[in-house]
Amino acid sequence: MDSALVERLEAEMAYEATRTAPPPGFPALADLPLTRYTDERFYELERDHLWSRAWLFAVHASELPEPGDYRLIDIVGAPLLVVRGDDGEIRAFFNSCRHRGAPVVRQDAGNARLLTCQYHSWTYDLAGNLVQVPDECDFVGLCREDRGLVPVRCEAWGDFVFVNRDPDAITLLEWLAPIPDELPELVQQPWRCIGRTESIIACNWKVTAEAFLEVYHLRTIHPKTVNKLLDHKASTMGLLANGHTRMVTKLRDAVIEQGGISLGLPTSPEMGEIFRTTNTAYGLFPNLIAPIDVVGFPMLVFWPIDIRTTRLELVWLACDWGDGERPAAWDALLAGFTAVMEEDERNMAPIQRSIEAAAHGGVPLNYQERRIQHFHAWIDRHIGVERIPEELRVPDTLADLVER
Ligand code: FES
Ligand SMILES: [Fe+2]
Repeated sequence: MDSALVERLEAEMAYEATRTAPPPGFPALADLPLTRYTDERFYELERDHLWSRAWLFAVHASELPEPGDYRLIDIVGAPLLVVRGDDGEIRAFFNSCRHRGAPVVRQDAGNARLLTCQYHSWTYDLAGNLVQVPDECDFVGLCREDRGLVPVRCEAWGDFVFVNRDPDAITLLEWLAPIPDELPELVQQPWRCIGRTESIIACNWKVTAEAFLEVYHLRTIHPKTVNKLLDHKASTMGLLANGHTRMVTKLRDAVIEQGGISLGLPTSPEMGEIFRTTNTAYGLFPNLIAPIDVVGFPMLVFWPIDIRTTRLELVWLACDWGDGERPAAWDALLAGFTAVMEEDERNMAPIQRSIEAAAHGGVPLNYQERRIQHFHAWIDRHIGVERIPEELRVPDTLADLVER
């Protein structure tokens, strides 16, 4: 992050902390229709035009350090296999055997020299080529070259590996713009994945995502946790191109004096001062939020299972500590974050039930919630506004505020 941007963000946080109204000219935001969370037509539009065409975070390369290391991921109904080949490349395939469609790999993660289907033992190499077929002579006219695992686009920004089911999609770096240019230090630091957890929440995926796009709720949902660390008024938000967002929130002075939240853990030499004195969170459209800290951070990834069920995945990255066991302070840090997540998650299923009852008519958003408006407007842009029934649309009211 260059010094001009850091200076601007510092000035914006100071302004935000003392302002008494939204900046002059900030528009009134139309209510979000509740049906965006409940109408099957909207869910199908998201599935067909957003999830099937978006770059979606799959793995951090540190999760697959050796050739043959693999992980299964499920991207909204598409079961994928991500595997590191003998050449060191990470590739993605549908985890669907080219014989009768059985899953080739069944364990969530592991290491294999060859990928052998459990059903009839068709066997693929790590580059997806079909290399063995039992009783091959009984398949008349079978051509092995035509029956390799079906590849899915897989590209990386540093060690952050994403997949996209659309063969005609723009490149990952184009999709992520302007974040790779703004945040080159993030991929210069060799983060190390220290684990994944997931929870299943009874709400639409957008209800889950929205809880991490604002800090308006800190005093009420997190009075004894996050609110003690962050000053929600001293928060500046950037609406970025391609639906991405940034939220930089000042740590309270007493927390900065104690050295932030580092608990004495190793900190990244790559990440500058702003990551020590603020919580700097990026929202990578559509479904990844990363509240970055110098010791490490969770990546929160939101996956719809169905219209009213979300899988929330946490992928934890830590600053490398060298040899030996993970430093014990990480246990305290993870426990603290789990408590915060429980505070957030407790709210989500009840919100979905109110939305389904349509009890409150629509969702009015305030200035502090402007990232949510931007997020919805970009969902509509990806779907194609003309495909969306009028009563389900969200106007792109904040387009002029997007940073250029
Ligand atoms: S379905 Fe995989 S070998 Fe038959
Ligand atoms: Fe929260």
